[in-house]
Amino acid sequence: MVRISFVCLGNICRSPTAEAVMRHLVGQAGLQERISIDSAGTGRGHVGQTRDRRSSLVGERRGIPLSGRARQFVAEDFDRFDYILAMDRQNEETLSELAPDERARNKVRLLRSFDPESPAGAEVPDPYYGGPRGFDEVFDICEAACRGLLAEVRRREGF
Ligand code: 4NP
Repeated sequence: MVRISFVCLGNICRSPTAEAVMRHLVGQAGLQERISIDSAGTGRGHVGQTRDRRSSLVGERRGIPLSGRARQFVAEDFDRFDYILAMDRQNEETLSELAPDERARNKVRLLRSFDPESPAGAEVPDPYYGGPRGFDEVFDICEAACRGLLAEVRRREGF
């Protein structure tokens, strides 16, 4: 089993969107028994809450529903996942600081680094304080990056 966790700040907008998009793509590819998908936040401000209503609405409209409740990423998660994908550089840095060793740190990557069309260091922009278009944009960005991620995982794992 390849284990993937998507990580943003609140775990209510971006990482649950990436989680939903990736689960959708993995399901379409029939690989749900080979790839497990999770999300978490580096912050604790929204722990236990359901996903942001604005993200959930976009997901429903696209037929890619968001699920679950917010949780905080903890140091033990470095053992539980193979790919730890940060939505932005701030979260990437927080994860690197939390990583207990080099092996753990090497699991952390920016999600958009898997999108061949994205420049180096590209982030998934935080939609929380913006308008409704931002949530659609997050979906599009996550979709492009998750397609690249799935292709890379399949290539590396040989399935
Ligand atoms: P997320 O969005 O990190 O994509 O879940 C945010 C959620 C909450 C806050 C910021 C971003 N906040 O500042 O409360």
